[in-house]
Amino acid sequence: MIKKLRLGVLASGGGTNLQAIIDRCTDGSLSAEIALVLSNVPGAGALVRAETAGLATCCLDHRSYPDRESFDRAVVKTLHDAGVELVVLAGFMRIIGEAFVAAFPQRIINIHPALLPAFPGLHVQRKALEYGARFAGCTVHFVDGGVDTGPIIVQAVVPILDDDTEAALAARILVQEHRIYPQAIQLIAEGRLRLEGRRVIIDSPPPSPVAALINPPLP
Ligand code: GRF
Repeated sequence: MIKKLRLGVLASGGGTNLQAIIDRCTDGSLSAEIALVLSNVPGAGALVRAETAGLATCCLDHRSYPDRESFDRAVVKTLHDAGVELVVLAGFMRIIGEAFVAAFPQRIINIHPALLPAFPGLHVQRKALEYGARFAGCTVHFVDGGVDTGPIIVQAVVPILDDDTEAALAARILVQEHRIYPQAIQLIAEGRLRLEGRRVIIDSPPPSPVAALINPPLP
C-alpha cells in the first residue's frame, strides 16, 4: 500500500476543489491525507468545509503582515510544522514568492480554470468567451516563480457553447476541476511524475484518446 501523502491545502474561497479532495481522501481513492487547510481569508467557505470534515485549519490573514515575504515565511513555517509534503493551491488568491517556491521544490501545485498557456491570471472564463474560443477547460500545474506558468500535469477540455454565459462556462469547467485535481494528486502520491524540461512525463499512463475534439462537431 502507498504511504499517504500529507497535503497542505491553501484556499481563499468557497472551497469546492478542497471538498473534492476531502471526498476522494475519505472514499479511499486518493492515497493522501489533508494535514492542514490554510486560508488567508477569515471565515472562508473552505475553512468551514475543513472544520466540518474535522480537519486541522489555520487562518493567516495576509493583511496582518508588512509584506509578502513575511506572510510567505509564516505560511511556509506553518506548513512545515504540520509535516506537509505537497502544497495544493485550491483557489488561493495570493501570489507565491520565490522563497516559498524554493521551500517546496516541485511540491506546489495549482489548478487554473483555463487551458494554459492561454488565459493566465484572473477572470479567465470571461476572457475565453470574449475571445471567441471554441474550447475552454482547466489545468493542474506545478507552481514555479511565475503566475500560472509552471509545467502542466493534467488538463481537461470543455466546449464553449454559443449561448454560454461566464457563470455557465465556469460551472462546466469546475465539474472537470473536481475530477482532475484529485487525479493529479494521485499521480504525485504514486511517484509517477518526472520533469523533462517543461514536460511532465507520466510513468505508465493509461492510453490517451487519439481522436480530435472538434467544436462544433462535424455533421
Ligand atoms: C477555481 O475555479 C480554481 O480553478 C481557481 O479558483 C477557483 C476556486 O474554486 N484557482 P473553489 O474555491 O475550489 O470552489
